[in-house]
Amino acid sequence: MAEIPEELRNIARGWQRSHLLDLESLSREEILQLLDLADTFKQLTDNCTRKLNLLPGSTCANLFFENSTRTRTSFSLAARRLGADTIDFSRSGSSLSKGESFIDTAKNIEAMKVAAVIVRHGTPGTPQLLAQNLRCPVINAGDGPHEHPTQGLLDILTIRERLGRIEGLTVALVGDIAHSRTARSNLWGLKKLGAHVILCGPATLVSPRWRELDVEISHNLDEVIPRCDVLNLLRIQFERQEQPPFPSVREYALLYAMNKERLARAKEEILVLAPGPINRGVEVTPDVADGDHSAILNQVTNGLAVRMAALWLLCGHAA
Ligand code: NCD
Repeated sequence: MAEIPEELRNIARGWQRSHLLDLESLSREEILQLLDLADTFKQLTDNCTRKLNLLPGSTCANLFFENSTRTRTSFSLAARRLGADTIDFSRSGSSLSKGESFIDTAKNIEAMKVAAVIVRHGTPGTPQLLAQNLRCPVINAGDGPHEHPTQGLLDILTIRERLGRIEGLTVALVGDIAHSRTARSNLWGLKKLGAHVILCGPATLVSPRWRELDVEISHNLDEVIPRCDVLNLLRIQFERQEQPPFPSVREYALLYAMNKERLARAKEEILVLAPGPINRGVEVTPDVADGDHSAILNQVTNGLAVRMAALWLLCGHAA
């Protein structure tokens, strides 16, 4: 195994957790460790282009039970950049259709000596269930509407990189907060690092009761825009809703799509994020998505760094 670079070892010192299940239960220090490691991985790999042979001979298993473009590819690439192999499990064609339980399936995959299991599932709590039943590290790649910790981390890393800090910033999470795991992970991470968080969207998707979480609630994007340093535009998760939460997509776009008129009323340094997939013309117009204020593709690159950090921290740092 290659020598562990001193700077990685220093940042990882004191890390105790075996799994990465959410940002809600992480401390501010643990979140900073992950962000600092991701930064260092970016530097050591020339912006995630080079390999670092830190997990040779290990295999990371992707267990994805919901669709994914970015997250699955990003975890696979991150593992390979660390010198590990990857396997992809998908529900269709598996023995789950023969009646095998989810935990038995996962235990069988673990018995093939995988170093980590990365799981995405529509049911909240699935990664926690796996963590209780497997010995290897489990990483949550999105559990229903609950959390998506690596997405939260890569969003926060992108903000810190572009604006130099998190403390004191005003960040609006805009759109379908009720069904968004990205919103939840952002909320916990940003608050722990001292940001002011605004949850903004239609009343059917943003409840006033969430003020209990010490966040600002707004149903009026135009009112909050001038105060924001960052807008994180979240997709409407139609697949998690029984009834459409507003009369038409056109009406939603009229009130909440980030467009050039709204951009003109924002701070000069405003940063526009979106976890993707983006629906052009719904939560963001193409000129804004592709414009200078958008960091949407930088987020994707930072996802690689965050996932390298998470995989190495859970599988390799104690080696
Ligand atoms: C998000 C997800 O799947 O939770 N996308 C992602 O991981 N990049 C957000 C979404 O689907 O809207």
